[in-house]
Amino acid sequence: MNGRQSIFDIHRTMKFHLELTDKCNAACPMCGRTQQMTRCLPDMTKVKNIELELDLIKRNFTPDLCSRISEIDLCGGLGDPPAARECFEICEYFIGFGIKIILSSNGGLRSETWWKRLGELFEGTASLVEFHIDGLEDTNHLYRVNTRFEKIMKNAEAFLGAGGAGEWHFIPFQHNEHQIADALKLSREMGFSTFRIIDTIRFGKENRFTYQLPDGRMQDLNPADPDLIRTFQTNAGGARPSNPRDDLATATAVRCKSEVQNRPYIVATGAVSACCWIEGSDDERRMYSKAGVDHGLAHNIRNRPLEEILLEEPYRTIYPQAWAENTNPVCIRKCAKMQRSSRRAL
Ligand SMILES: C[S@@+](CC[C@H](N)C(=O)[O-])C[C@H]1O[C@@H](n2cnc3c(N)ncnc32)[C@H](O)[C@@H]1O
Ligand code: SF4
Ligand code: SF4
Repeated sequence: MNGRQSIFDIHRTMKFHLELTDKCNAACPMCGRTQQMTRCLPDMTKVKNIELELDLIKRNFTPDLCSRISEIDLCGGLGDPPAARECFEICEYFIGFGIKIILSSNGGLRSETWWKRLGELFEGTASLVEFHIDGLEDTNHLYRVNTRFEKIMKNAEAFLGAGGAGEWHFIPFQHNEHQIADALKLSREMGFSTFRIIDTIRFGKENRFTYQLPDGRMQDLNPADPDLIRTFQTNAGGARPSNPRDDLATATAVRCKSEVQNRPYIVATGAVSACCWIEGSDDERRMYSKAGVDHGLAHNIRNRPLEEILLEEPYRTIYPQAWAENTNPVCIRKCAKMQRSSRRAL
């Protein structure tokens, strides 16, 4: 640890990843919030329909802390940020400190007026919205279940038209791979700054993902043609992620992305975590139990100040020890073997 107190250094520049809410209008079958075999209904063992409120944010993200934050990702694991009641006001609060906001959304919620105001707020700043749109009018809803393409386009137009910077992120599947070029062209015409391909690794061993549509019909998601994606990635100068089935025993050393970026994660319950991969995992439970800390109560910004939490175990010695001893399978997969979905700009 080189004499440092914690894997997070609250005195140097920080970034954060926040899950503003676990509410969402969509039901993407591969998302953690969705029961893919039960009409894509929300998994109520995980979804609590809660959100981080502006007051709670202000209490923990003091002006002093904000003065050291360069960037905040409003993304999360279970919800869509605009579904949080005070999403706009929270963006406004952080942008007031010159913090760059990266807001990830399916773009289907809220009115054009709301998106126009957000565009005006983001204009002239480094902040941006990632619109996650996996196809065109006839395909986007096959993954972004329950969303309407026409509404997403109107919202994106309102945001971009008001001067907001936006990126179009596209997950290719067999059913939408033929639309990549058209979506790229449309994104340029609409004024998106960047178009990115997300090469998802969520197909599992069978390399196919079966789910049930809300109307009861069964449907398969199949991977896009790897040669096609490779061509796009090569043209964009990217590399493919490592093979998800590599043996954990051959992992190289863990290099914690969150420690390097000084970027903790906070979920909509208020619980603090090291990152969105370890959050809620057995690895995390084991480390908290070793630390003797009640994660839900003591490491929750509703109960304790954020800056105190970040300096306590398991973030002092327990995480570094687990990395040195290779005892966290999640950390090995994500930050040694780099088994992550890749993102490439075209
Ligand atoms: C749970 S979402 C939360 C933010 C927002 N609701 C959204 O979808 O952008 C977090 C991230 O997971 C991404 N995602 C969803 N399905 C995915 C998949 N099958 N593979 C890789 N990333 C996926 C989303 O696009 C988003 O960037
Ligand atoms: S839009 Fe985001 S949060 Fe909502 S279901 Fe899809 S991936 Fe999950
Ligand atoms: S998976 Fe483990 S090593 Fe990687 S960022 Fe998260 S806590 Fe750090």
